[in-house]
Amino acid sequence: MGEEIVVIEGDGIGREVVPAALEVLEAFDLGFEFVSAEAGDATEEATGEALPAETYELAADADATLFGAAGETAADVILPLRDAVDSFVNVRPARAYPGVDAVRPETDVVFLRENTEGVYSGHEGRLSEDLSTLTRVVTSSASRELAEFACEFVTDGRGPVGGPEDGFTVAHKANVMRETDGRFRDEVLSVAEERGVDADEELMDAFATKLPLDPTQYGVVVCPNLAGDVLSDLAAGLVGGLGLLPSANVGHDNALFEPVHGTAPDIAGQGIANPTAAVLSAAMLLEYLSYGEEGQRVRDAVEGVLSDGPRTGDLGGDATTDEVTAAIVDRL
Ligand code: NAI
Ligand code: MG
Repeated sequence: MGEEIVVIEGDGIGREVVPAALEVLEAFDLGFEFVSAEAGDATEEATGEALPAETYELAADADATLFGAAGETAADVILPLRDAVDSFVNVRPARAYPGVDAVRPETDVVFLRENTEGVYSGHEGRLSEDLSTLTRVVTSSASRELAEFACEFVTDGRGPVGGPEDGFTVAHKANVMRETDGRFRDEVLSVAEERGVDADEELMDAFATKLPLDPTQYGVVVCPNLAGDVLSDLAAGLVGGLGLLPSANVGHDNALFEPVHGTAPDIAGQGIANPTAAVLSAAMLLEYLSYGEEGQRVRDAVEGVLSDGPRTGDLGGDATTDEVTAAIVDRL
């Protein structure tokens, strides 16, 4: 039996774009065992729980999970699921494609975002009527683990760059947060040096100005948790829409792949959602499971369809999800 892939459609257009991504995966006949599982708003209504323990366990035990989107319960679903796959890095590529209107058509960057700590580690408190605080957590171990991943990522040529000489940029604010971001920066740069990978650094506020002015200055960008969240959304804005952006939450022996977009209630149920983000998430899943050639074929097919059509409404076309998916599968 091949790898076990847990498939969670979730709510809204998750129920439309995940089947599209599945159709693309099935086109290869790689012997995957697909196991579907429930999570999200509808699951909460039906069972009282947005993320049933069974779904958590399935994701934790799988080789990989493909997730669509959840509605109001998104945080209750996606945060524990990232934990289920033990994810320490969030990989978010933002790439503009020929044929798609983009603010910056030359954008081709990948964010590697720390996925477990920083200001998202949940240590918040209300000390008085007037005062709330947040404790920021940065460990050398998590910073180094992220850096090890970044070094492998650029060395494998999995990013927009190929080879250690192209390296990566670490974005931080260590001039102000000297202890926490200082630790993060020092550990990341020291791992890069040990691995012989070129790495430079950029203050994250300066980065936020320089990226939209000239995205070609950057390839792979390594960030603390919050900075990665915000800066990757900034990059998403440069490439022409949420319907295009895939992501991966990678753990030690497991990973979860999901489009960046949500349930799109304004178009859900109409069969007109753009399946590209979900299909590109499936391409990342293939690459993660060492089916690099198949992953590349999916990327090529998607790129061909984006360039020549058919296109969904968000990209100015009038094709349905099914028509776009069929065109992608056709090119495979
Ligand atoms: P959204 O991403 O669902 O939609 C934003 C806009 O982009 C909408 O106009 C939508 O139609 C459009 N859009 C998004 N994906 C598209 C696609 N594949 N094709 C065509 N158009 C697309 O974000 P929004 O509206 O802020 O959130 C809606 C719901 O989704 C909320 O309940 C939110 O909690 C949830 N959400 C879930 C996420 C997750 O499960 N990871 C992530 C973001 C939001
Ligand atoms: Mg975000």
